[in-house]
Amino acid sequence: MADLIVSPQELRRRVAAWRREGQTLGFVPTMGALHEGHLSLVRQARTECKRVVVSVFVNPSQFGPGEDFSRYPRTLEEDRRLCDPLADVVFTPTVEAMYPSAQEVWVEPGPSARGLCGAFRPGHFRGVLTVVAKLFHMVDPDITYFGSKDYQQGVLVKQMVRQLGFPLEVRLCPTVREPDGLAMSSRNRYLSPAQRAQALCLIRGLRAAERLALGGGRPEVGALKAAVAAEVAKVPEAKVDYIEIVHPESLEPLTGAMRGEALAALAVRIGTTRLIDNLLLRTA
Ligand code: PAJ
Repeated sequence: MADLIVSPQELRRRVAAWRREGQTLGFVPTMGALHEGHLSLVRQARTECKRVVVSVFVNPSQFGPGEDFSRYPRTLEEDRRLCDPLADVVFTPTVEAMYPSAQEVWVEPGPSARGLCGAFRPGHFRGVLTVVAKLFHMVDPDITYFGSKDYQQGVLVKQMVRQLGFPLEVRLCPTVREPDGLAMSSRNRYLSPAQRAQALCLIRGLRAAERLALGGGRPEVGALKAAVAAEVAKVPEAKVDYIEIVHPESLEPLTGAMRGEALAALAVRIGTTRLIDNLLLRTA
C-alpha cells in the first residue's frame, strides 16, 4: 500500500531523503473521491518520475458559501487502495496544518480567472491557487500533473508557476471520460440515474460544436455557441451557468469567425450538482 502521511514535516523528511538519492518527484494534487481521471494523472506521473506523491485534501477555501464543501465525498481508504501501487505516498494533511491561522495572504489570480467558472464562483480560484502554492512548497515536486477537465484551473496554475517562479513543470493531461462521453468527476456520484442520463447534454453539446468546426469553412463563434446551447436545451432539467467559446491560452471570449483553435467550455447545473466540461475545437 502507498504510505499515508498526514504531517507536512514527515512529508518533507521523506522528500528530502528521495532528493539526497537524486530521485525525481511527480505530484498529483486532488480532493480525493478518486476515479480514473485522477488515476490517469498518477499513471502519467509514474511513467515520468521515480517517486509519486498524491495529495488528498478537500480545500475549504475554494468552496463558496452554499457550495458542497461539507458533503463533498470523502473516501480516503478507497482512495489509498486505488493509488496502490502507482503512488509512493498519499499525503492527507489536516485543515489545521494547511491553515494554521486565518488566511490573510492569498495568491490572487489575474484576468484569466474573470470569466468561465471564475465569474460564477467568486474567490474559488484564489482558494485553489493558494492551496496549490502551499502544497507545492510542502511537496517540492519536479513535475506536477493537472487534468484538462478543469481547464481554467490548469491555465491559472501554469501562470502562477511561471509568474511566481516555482521551480517545477506543469503537465496538463487529457480529460478521461466514461464510455458514453461524460467527463469523469467526483461530483458525478451526486447524480441520480435519471440525472446521470441528463448529464450527457454537456458532451453532446461540445461534440455538436466540434462537428460544426470540422465541417469546413470558418464557423462563426455565435454559431458554435448556439450548437452547444441547442443540445443542452433538449434537457429541460439542465440549467446553464455559461456556454463560452474562448481563446485556449488567454481564455478571452472569441468573436467573429473561428481562427485556429478555440476552447468550447460550459458549466451546467443538474439539480444541485454543478458539472463542467470543455473541448478544444479545430477547424478542418
Ligand atoms: P479534483 O477535482 O480532485 O481534481 C484533481 C485533479 O484531477 C485536477 O487536476 C483535475 O483536473 C483532475 N481531473 C478531474 N477529473 C478528471 C478527468 N475526468 N480527466 C482528467 N483529469 C481529471 O482540482 C482539484 O481537485 C482541486 O481544485 C485541487 C487542484 C486539488 C486544489 O484543491
